[in-house]
Amino acid sequence: MAVRKPPSRNERVSVCLGFPAYHGPQHLQRLRAVDPRIEPVPLPVDPGGGWVAVPPADPHEEPPSWAVGVAEERRRALKQAEALITLHTPQDLMTLAPRLRWIQGLGAGVEQFARAGVSRERVVVTNASGVSAGSMAEFVFGRLLQIWKRFREAEAHQRAHEYVQTYGRTFAGSTIGIVGMGSIGSAVAERARAFRLHVLGLKRSHRPGATSELAEQLFGPEQLLEMLAQCDIVVVAAPATNATRHLIDATALAAMRPGAVLVNVARGSLVDEPALIQALESGHLAAAVLDVFEQEPLPKESPLWDLANVYISAHSSVSTDRYLDDVFDLFLDNLARYVAGEPLRNRVDMVALGFA
Ligand code: GLV
Repeated sequence: MAVRKPPSRNERVSVCLGFPAYHGPQHLQRLRAVDPRIEPVPLPVDPGGGWVAVPPADPHEEPPSWAVGVAEERRRALKQAEALITLHTPQDLMTLAPRLRWIQGLGAGVEQFARAGVSRERVVVTNASGVSAGSMAEFVFGRLLQIWKRFREAEAHQRAHEYVQTYGRTFAGSTIGIVGMGSIGSAVAERARAFRLHVLGLKRSHRPGATSELAEQLFGPEQLLEMLAQCDIVVVAAPATNATRHLIDATALAAMRPGAVLVNVARGSLVDEPALIQALESGHLAAAVLDVFEQEPLPKESPLWDLANVYISAHSSVSTDRYLDDVFDLFLDNLARYVAGEPLRNRVDMVALGFA
């Protein structure tokens, strides 16, 4: 379904650039090249305002702390915006941007827009799903190789000049279960097949009897425990919604095979952290790879930091060498569709995801 009718000959289409890395002259030029009616409007920030380090999940006050000196320019930019590409969102976006019809999110996750009460009737949300999937899947296997091949221990022995064997585990013939077979889960599955792992996949929209080229068996959400019981590795790659909150709880962890590894590259809210800590301390799980946490940044006092079998990274499983360029290409393609009155790519079905 198209978002709008194509604009008339002299109509302006105001496109607000809410992500500062896209304010360069080359970006503005490429936007104008899509259609002469497009009017790119950068949403300014204060020099050295520190927006990069702010997690986007919680909508912010307007102006945000990183743009107090340019509040008026921001207000004007949002007021005329018809399309917006952004990572962070103001809490009262719907009031500040009365003409808004389309948001292109910078990431795969869109929960910040749901939290800001973005109107499903008025605004279409598209995400960057797929752009990060390949590099995230590489990250997952980097960690899994580190754990199953015991690289951390080999390095410690090297530092201590100790010639000690560190034999590992074999991927071929073992089983990986992927919770969420979207673009990230599918990219993990593809690579898992190259390692000759048995691949099981859990899909929100699974219908009995449905098959997949990427997984030997598919499961629906109500079959989570059945799938987990067969897994040596579980990768969580589903969106944060009400339905997925604490999906991996004490019961789910107990269902996993003793010695299994849990990987979470999705959102911290999907895993019950205290239950996970218990499963790691008891030795039921061999290890956890955590790129996301219930609270980010992970508080200094979290017990997770000091568990020897936890592998922490700071919400950075994506590789950014090409990410921003690839998202901008996706945005330009979608913008061309928008002005042509065609359906957009990566439209997020906020209702199906369970966002109210
Ligand atoms: C990052 O976490 C994203 O949603 O892409």
